[in-house]
Amino acid sequence: MSRFWSRVVSTLTPYVPGEQPKIANLIKLNTNENPYPPSPQVLAAIQAELGADAARLRLYPDPNADQLKAAVARLHGVTAQQIFVGNGSDEVLAHVFMALLKHERPILFPDITYSFYPVYCGLYDVDYRTVPLTDDFSIDPADYTQPNGGIIFPNPNAPTGRLLALDAIEQILEANPDSVVAVDEAYVDFGGISAISLVDRHDNLLVVHTLSKSRALAGLRVGFAVGHPALIEALERVKNSFNSYPLDRLAIVGAVAALEDAGHFERTRQAVIATRDALTAELQSLGFAVLPSAANFIFARHPRRDAAQLAQALRDRSIIVRHFKLPRIDQFLRITVGTDAECKALTGTLHDILA
Ligand SMILES: Cc1ncc(COP(=O)(O)O)c(C=O)c1O
Repeated sequence: MSRFWSRVVSTLTPYVPGEQPKIANLIKLNTNENPYPPSPQVLAAIQAELGADAARLRLYPDPNADQLKAAVARLHGVTAQQIFVGNGSDEVLAHVFMALLKHERPILFPDITYSFYPVYCGLYDVDYRTVPLTDDFSIDPADYTQPNGGIIFPNPNAPTGRLLALDAIEQILEANPDSVVAVDEAYVDFGGISAISLVDRHDNLLVVHTLSKSRALAGLRVGFAVGHPALIEALERVKNSFNSYPLDRLAIVGAVAALEDAGHFERTRQAVIATRDALTAELQSLGFAVLPSAANFIFARHPRRDAAQLAQALRDRSIIVRHFKLPRIDQFLRITVGTDAECKALTGTLHDILA
């Protein structure tokens, strides 16, 4: 507390990101990064943009990132007017809360979900109501029929990994024609079908993507949203009242190169999916109950061992996973799918801890 703080600062409960420890030889399975490097084309594009003397860094980047919007448009079969880009999907989401979810009525999101959503509500003074997931941790569209100022959920959900089918999303859209329904597809490439295919039919749908997970570019900070041009215009108005140049020159060219390397994307995505399925089977054989995951992480609990103690025991052996001390999920571990070798080290260590 300080007398220099504005009134809102003292009311905030900021998001706590997963740890980025600076310890050598750590197996880091706690923040859902991709275990594989990004496409080599990304580095080539960044080097080309820098040139021999990095002189271009003297100049501001394109404030509209048209080159990136064109690449997203080609990939997803939409127009540039249906695309908004930002500095990571977290920034895109922040603008969504401000531009499209701040209304008279409370917005709705699941009780177990991405923990940044209530933080944005605190920052922008958005009223919200949480909707409990069902007993098997899924979203039931019938629970999203009460009056609301907007709806947001990740699909697959985080940290559960559970996927909601497109027809269920369509039910939510149809039941809420006067609310924006934002679908945060940070993990969709690991097992879902994108709701971007629905944007031409539903003017209340906004789909948010990130290059941090399936494109292995968490360090470059690039995200985007796809929806009706009127929704995009709202986001552009907020963005241009906040920061005109959210994406730097290197991020724009790197993101374009990543989106254009379909072969690398497909190979690494399939490798993560295969490792996830093998890891699920291994954990089940160790006695864990594992929720079905369509993401690059799995959510698992052991019926007889305390999750916080398991996380600590792993940490003592240089393996970091995520444990949330929250109602309903405090006996679960969220484990990012690493390389095959990392996952083998994890299950071998768990075997020893459980023995
Ligand atoms: C559901 C969900 N949405 C959005 C993000 C933010 O991703 P980024 O800001 O790296 O694009 C994350 C990050 O973990 C996430 O889990």
